Amino acid sequence: MTTEARDQTLALHGGPQAFHQMNGAAQPKIGVAEFMSIAERFGFTPAALDRIRQAISDDDLGSGPNLARYATSFPPETKGAAFEALARQKFGVQYALGVNSGTSALHCAMVAVGVGPGTEVIVPAIGYYATAAAVVAAKGVPIFCDVDASLHLDPTKLEALITPRTVAVAPTHVMGSICNMGPIVEIARKHNLKVVEDCAQSPGGKFGGRYVGTWGDIGCFSISCYKIIGGGEGGLVITNDERLWERASQLAECGGLWRPDRFAPPRYEGELFNGLNYRMSELEAAVDLVQLGKLDEVVRRYHDVKLRILRQLRSFAGITPQTLNDAAGEIGYRLVFYPATHELGQQIAAALRAEGIPAGYRGPNGRPDWHVYSDMFPITLKPGTMPTDRPFDLPEYQERDGHVEYAKGLCPVADDLFNRSVTIPLNQWYSETDCDAIAAGINKVLGAFCPLGGQEAAWL
Ligand SMILES: Cc1ncc(COP(=O)(O)O)c(C=O)c1O
Repeated sequence: MTTEARDQTLALHGGPQAFHQMNGAAQPKIGVAEFMSIAERFGFTPAALDRIRQAISDDDLGSGPNLARYATSFPPETKGAAFEALARQKFGVQYALGVNSGTSALHCAMVAVGVGPGTEVIVPAIGYYATAAAVVAAKGVPIFCDVDASLHLDPTKLEALITPRTVAVAPTHVMGSICNMGPIVEIARKHNLKVVEDCAQSPGGKFGGRYVGTWGDIGCFSISCYKIIGGGEGGLVITNDERLWERASQLAECGGLWRPDRFAPPRYEGELFNGLNYRMSELEAAVDLVQLGKLDEVVRRYHDVKLRILRQLRSFAGITPQTLNDAAGEIGYRLVFYPATHELGQQIAAALRAEGIPAGYRGPNGRPDWHVYSDMFPITLKPGTMPTDRPFDLPEYQERDGHVEYAKGLCPVADDLFNRSVTIPLNQWYSETDCDAIAAGINKVLGAFCPLGGQEAAWL
């Protein structure tokens, strides 16, 4: 046989392989320079930075370890899976799903509980725009419920907003404080509604001794850097309901990797539907795993700071403290009270700041803020994603007599209290001496403007 003929013999029949070794030089998958530019932000010592650089430069990560949470090349434990396992253990739930943001967690939850064309979800007038946005993303219509003096959804106003179109209520735990979950869940159960808890601002808080996020059917968390255990951008969904977990997973992971056999036909009617990709990255999961492990200590420090200050505050006429629905479960990174007038609020906030105590007061002419319903323009102006895709106009909604108008004045308590609150941000690292000085400073300032006594509600 000639050489040429032998070269043409198929490898299957004993001929030479056409390609038996790659000549190209692989490069690390993770860009060393890019990774180092992130690592350098964290204040590692030069020696530690050198070790990190060495570790990531040496490895050819081309087809090996990567930053995907479904890294099939090195099972069984990815950081994403470890994060979810820790979340299940911490909150005592059966299912946890790590996602890439609190907003995507809410979108997953809304889709999971059956929000869609022709449906409504009751959301609080104070919280954050993402809750209502997730309803619209699922093609439902958000209905705003006013708050009470706790700044949280007022359970006494809930029932009047329920219609045949309502499928869920989505209470938000706001600024480290806690919703009045007992009556909310009771009303929801009576009307066969699902409860989607938005815990983004109060992770680790408790109502009646039970973690927020476990009172409803499904709990949503943000782990963004703005939150108390924030890493960068991350989110979490928890539930005890297998079907809800499956629906949330289907929306979050369109690659089907959450399923025992990823590309198999549906195991039951409705299992599969159009999903997206909201996966949490391994890098984020690695950070969030550590952060979630610290949650209880972080909460305890904030809680102790706030309660130590509150216990020392005196009662003043013209000052109403924020109602705490469960002081024992309060996280406490904000201390809030309502002066009787805007003039008083502005004077008190300025005087507190002069004492060295950070204090915010929005007043009647504050800039737009998407934490209050009337400023949530992407919802209230009803633009949808495009004029032809607005849940408000869908035939399913109109055929069910759905109609909503959003305007300031719809939720008068929120309109008033959102503008008329003095807000003091607290620091988990305040020492007892710091707390005592701050409490004395608040008493000093309030005492300079308001007579003692006559307060309608107690600080605690
Ligand atoms: C109450 C509430 N829900 C949801 C979100 C959205 O979370 P993320 O920014 O992680 O999407 C936030 C974040 O600001 C929030 O405060």
